[in-house]
Amino acid sequence: MKQTIVSGMRPTGKLHLGHYLGVIQNWVELQDKYDCYFFVADWHALTTKYDKTEDLRQNTLDILTDWLACGIDPEKSTIYVQSLVPEIAELNIYLGMITPQNWVERDPCLKDMAKILKTKEGQASQINFGLMGYPVLMSSDIMMFNADFVPVGIDQVAHIEITRDITRRFNNLYGEFFHEAQPLLNHCSLICGLDGNKMGKSFHNDIKISDTAEVTSKKVMTAITDRSRLRKDDLGHPDECEVAFKYWKIFGSEDEVNTVRCECEKGQRGCAQCKRQLGDKINSRLAEIREKRKYYENHIDEVEKIINEGSAKARVKAKEILSQVRKLVKMY
Ligand code: TRP
Repeated sequence: MKQTIVSGMRPTGKLHLGHYLGVIQNWVELQDKYDCYFFVADWHALTTKYDKTEDLRQNTLDILTDWLACGIDPEKSTIYVQSLVPEIAELNIYLGMITPQNWVERDPCLKDMAKILKTKEGQASQINFGLMGYPVLMSSDIMMFNADFVPVGIDQVAHIEITRDITRRFNNLYGEFFHEAQPLLNHCSLICGLDGNKMGKSFHNDIKISDTAEVTSKKVMTAITDRSRLRKDDLGHPDECEVAFKYWKIFGSEDEVNTVRCECEKGQRGCAQCKRQLGDKINSRLAEIREKRKYYENHIDEVEKIINEGSAKARVKAKEILSQVRKLVKMY
């Protein structure tokens, strides 16, 4: 019997290389070893964006198209949309009943979010009930499939701790049933944005999986290099190159990285030329993924079919677990 993995992402729109290298690539590998459940967390999106739902459907399709292009495989994994598995909402009710209020109040991620909301919307804004319940909903996502492991970024580990607390409480109250899920740390995104800061859509410093080769090349030309270098035959300092050389280390072979280093240090390689080559390098690495993405973009009905079938498959398992939960809690 394979162990179970659950992980999800909010539908925030098209994914960038930070998502690919930091999260998705890892998921693709996990598919062969575990029984994987990957989902788009559309209810979670509502916790903060309940008043901005017009892009929700498109964002969900975009993210799933990216996943499929990157190699998340419906033959290997169960791929679904959270809100298409309403059993999660019922489990959320049972778990909410056994979760003391102060467990969610002390959740550090929630505290951060509350702070951000306050500064965005002014002091008067309040946390809504749904956002408050977010750690319980996340526990429901995880426990719905009785996960053993949850691949997440370091920022989400506190949520897994709450999930484990809720799991223990459930098992104590109603009998041993749920596994205590362990976080599996994603190697944090190793790629920075084109400006040297964290890569993010809202910072306009990202390269999207869905960008064309042309757009990618143009973006790479804006990447920051060694700021002390003015002319192309100035001696370069690869280790002080803020972005381009870091990208080389991610996308180039060992030999290529050594060549770039030597030529740069000797002033034999200008930054523009270097970035032109780098753009080609990144494009060739992404070529296959982008081709696959184009295919799914042009066959969006296939993506929808995969979502519907995946969600139906997820529901079969969710119903099984839920019927056992109902029995344990002694519902009618
Ligand atoms: N909270 C996660 C995020 O914001 C997304 C998420 C929701 C999730 N439910 C989950 C991740 C369950 C792992 C398991 O990134």
